[in-house]
Amino acid sequence: MSKRVSLTQYLVEQQRLHGRIPQELRLLIEVVARACKRIAISVNKGALGDVLGSAGTDNVQGEVQKKLDIIANEELIGANEWGGHLAAMASEEMEGIYLVPNRYPKGEYLLMFDPLDGSSNIDVNVSIGTIFSVFKKPEGSQGVSEQDFLQPGTQQAAAGYCVYGPQTTLVLTVGDGVVMFTLDREQGSWVQTADAVRIPEDTKEFAINMSNMRHWAPPVRRYIDECLQGKEGPRGKDFNMRWVASMVADVHRILTRGGVFMYPWDQREPAKPGKLRLLYEANPMGMLVEQAGGLATTGTQRILEVQPKLLHERVSVMLGSRNEVQRLIDLHAAS
Ligand code: AHG
Ligand code: MN
Ligand code: MN
Repeated sequence: MSKRVSLTQYLVEQQRLHGRIPQELRLLIEVVARACKRIAISVNKGALGDVLGSAGTDNVQGEVQKKLDIIANEELIGANEWGGHLAAMASEEMEGIYLVPNRYPKGEYLLMFDPLDGSSNIDVNVSIGTIFSVFKKPEGSQGVSEQDFLQPGTQQAAAGYCVYGPQTTLVLTVGDGVVMFTLDREQGSWVQTADAVRIPEDTKEFAINMSNMRHWAPPVRRYIDECLQGKEGPRGKDFNMRWVASMVADVHRILTRGGVFMYPWDQREPAKPGKLRLLYEANPMGMLVEQAGGLATTGTQRILEVQPKLLHERVSVMLGSRNEVQRLIDLHAAS
């Protein structure tokens, strides 16, 4: 890209050219991006900033919270609560919804986030990220309640993530394709570095936690088994495997060069639909992947069409290169 386009310029031009981004949504995205910049600074300090290790508390999911889970959550709330663009927020790290305090003006948008994705990688200096999803409050609803957050992913007004890796990259969709911005640390600004991102339809790379193999459902087992047979098997090609254990990093690789990512239902805890969270992880990543030409499914249903019943609902996730995800859908349909 020859011309240097900042995040602000991109958003203003989208607003001007296509009327896609109302003023409040633009403010919301800029504020989230600013919070991500502050989180990136904490992440980079690591041990020097005393941000590594456990906070000694559990979240609502029963997971041990890391210091950075809490720092990132507080950065996102502190940055977003006063701007007048939000009605409320919900986070993987908070049990209930967070209402904008009465001392601030209220807006129409709802913001949901996984403040720090890939927590197990924080202390070992591997890529982590922040994932976010934006909805409008349903028409005519008075005040705001948890029920307002239970909208299917098709209703998302915007979705994105920031990956804190060798580069800090913000990936965004407002329903008109996927764009990427890289943080220029000297300037302190987000510079557009990719436009109209497309996921290749075919791939030879899959991402799944293989240690769970014995627990998978038959269609997932069959899919991976066929991949592992390589050139000599029914797929007729050798596959490669990657598993970062940070969904942001795995999805970022898929948006960059293709691949398929799976965290399917498994029978370790049969009543639990999956590990990943529908509102903070599956929906925003599902929208980004679809906007880049890929597919996102539970195996039997398009993720974006799942009607949430709970704030912290979990879901089976399979997403990425169109033809591979279609194969997974076909195997589920045939089983
Ligand atoms: P989080 O750190 O927000 O709890 O999310 C972790 C998720 C996801 O990022 C990753 O793909 C997956 O959990 C890794 O799970 P395993 O440790 O089972 O591989
Ligand atoms: Mn996560
Ligand atoms: Mn998290």
